[in-house]
Parts: sequence; structure tokens; C-alpha cells
Amino acid sequence: MLSYFVSGYQTVLSWVFGISEQQDSQLVKVFIVGATGYVGGAVLALLLAGENAKRFEVTVLSRSADKARAFESFGVKAIVGSLDDLVTLEAIAAESDVVIECADADHIASTKAFLAGLRRKHEVMGTAPILVHTSGTGYVKTFIVLPSTIYGLASGPLVDAGIVNPRSMQIPALIEASMDRRQAGMVGEGRNFHPNVHIDDVARLYCTIIERALAGDDIGHGREGFYFGENGEHTMLDIAQAMGADLEAMGLADTADPSTFNKTELDKYFGGSDSLGTNVRCRAERSRGIGWKPVKTSEDMLASIKPEIEHIIAGRKLNSGACSGTGSPRSG
Ligand SMILES: *[C@@H]1O[C@H](CO)[C@@H](O)[C@H](O)[C@H]1NC(C)=O
Repeated sequence: MLSYFVSGYQTVLSWVFGISEQQDSQLVKVFIVGATGYVGGAVLALLLAGENAKRFEVTVLSRSADKARAFESFGVKAIVGSLDDLVTLEAIAAESDVVIECADADHIASTKAFLAGLRRKHEVMGTAPILVHTSGTGYVKTFIVLPSTIYGLASGPLVDAGIVNPRSMQIPALIEASMDRRQAGMVGEGRNFHPNVHIDDVARLYCTIIERALAGDDIGHGREGFYFGENGEHTMLDIAQAMGADLEAMGLADTADPSTFNKTELDKYFGGSDSLGTNVRCRAERSRGIGWKPVKTSEDMLASIKPEIEHIIAGRKLNSGACSGTGSPRSG
């Protein structure tokens, strides 16, 4: 039923856009799960904006019917559903050349449904469809992307339309905690290292993998298919100091000097987790080896803190104007 619906949709597409059957068969059908999220939204935006946009016929999964309608205004087919709609997911995967998973990295049942659907696609078409999984099998080429600390406000028409989440997690969480205590905070002495990568570079990494795989290039997949996203390293102290200077300059902190979150604060702001005090280190050699050229550096990461603070403040003003007392700005 659903696969009938999907292929019916392709016929409608051909009719609306005047795509002949010949060209239609060359369309690359891409299914993005998590397209309303920070990473998935950025990947979708790049697919729609890229010079090859006409090659791609994109389907997304959305839990919200409103967002699904908004996606359709961008020429994107949207299926309303969740990661638990396994039959639907398998059916769409069975019609797809590429499945990009940017939702919950550890939702095993949905990943199995994608693999089952892609296997059916393989059995019908004889080609090896592509699965790009965001971290966390012979008939499918799998690629696993492991981005590190992703930063930067996503932008573009999908963000402007309010469909996708423009914000990362780690740095905004640190900023919100620091604003609340009116002093930049860190875990321990902040001497630990984390790699970083800008959201636009992450989106380009997904697209680089897809382009190379679709071109039939022999790039690492399966066991050799782990692709880090990283273009520099910082210590947490680097972030805390930059954040402290910004907060003080904006009148949001009484000092530029950072201090250590105490136990009560770790519980309050981070659910008791001290993961921001751990070391994470990687080098994106394989990603660069397939032609990925990230452009934003650690300096850009530090410079992204101020716009994040401004975004948080703007969100709070908007919220207190619209419906006062509803708490922190929504994302997602
Ligand atoms: C933790 O820090 C807060 C300030 O953010 C302070 O009010 C509180 O007393 C501290 N708790 C302990 C146990 O030191």
C-alpha cells in the first residue's frame, strides 16, 4: 500500500515537473530520517541547494503533520511517522537508493528496518544501495559518520521556515548553564580536549560520501566505513574563557574568568553527567582522504559562541512576549 503510494507520488512528480520516464529513472531517491534535527536539517538543506539538487528526489520522515506540509513546500516528500513505524520505514527504504539516518543513533529496530528495506531494493535492482548512519552486511554499502562537537547556528530557508532545529547541543548547554550562574563554567580545570566541526562542514561530509558512493568510487565502507568529522581541537578551558569574555562584555557575567561547576551544578545543568570533562580525540583522515574539505576551524568555533548567546537571548525575548513564563526557548 505504502510502496504503491510512493511510486504513485513519483508519477505525480514526473507529471508536475515534466520529468520524462527516462530522466525519472536516473533520479537518486534519498530518504532522510531526522531531517528536522540539527544535522539532518543541514544535510537536507545542502542536498536541496547543491548543484546536483535536481538529481535527488528526497523523502523525509516527520512526526509532525505541520512540518510535513512545510517540507512539501520545499519540494520534499514528507511521510508523517516515527522511528517506531517499522513497516513504513522498511517500505520507504525499499524504494530508496540512499538512506541517511540522522535521528536517534541507537534505535536498533529502525536501523534493522532500513537494512531490510534496502535489501529488498538490492534484490530488485541488483545495485548496492547506500546507508549513511550517524554514530552511535554485504548487500548494502554502509557509511558511519561520527561528527565530534558540532557547532554553529544552522541557517537557510528550512531554518527560516521553522522546520529544522538550528542549534547544536554542547556549546548552547554550556552557555545556558553559564548564563544562569552568571559566570562561565567548565568541568574540572577544563584541560580536556574535544575535537570540533562546523555544522556546514558536517553536512558537506555527508554529501561528499554520498556523491563518491553514487559515482561508484571505491571508498571505504562497512568495516572501513567510519568517517570522523573534525577540523580542529580545543580544550574546554578555551571555550570557557571565550564564553566568559563574551558573557562579561554583554553584561551577562560579573567576571570574564571561568570557574568549575560544582556537584550541585553538574546535577542541575547536565543531569549529573561530567562527560564535558572527558577527553575525546580523533583525526578525520579517512574523511579528508575522500575529498572532504572542511573550512571552519577552532577559531571559528570560539567566534560562534557570541552568536549562540545572542540567539538564546532572542529566543527568550520571543517566548516571554508570546506566552510569558513558559521557560527556555524551544528547539527542534
Ligand atoms: C555550587 O555553586 C553554586 C553557585 O552556582 C552555589 O550557590 C552553591 O552553594 C555551590 N554548592 C556547593 C556545594 O559548593
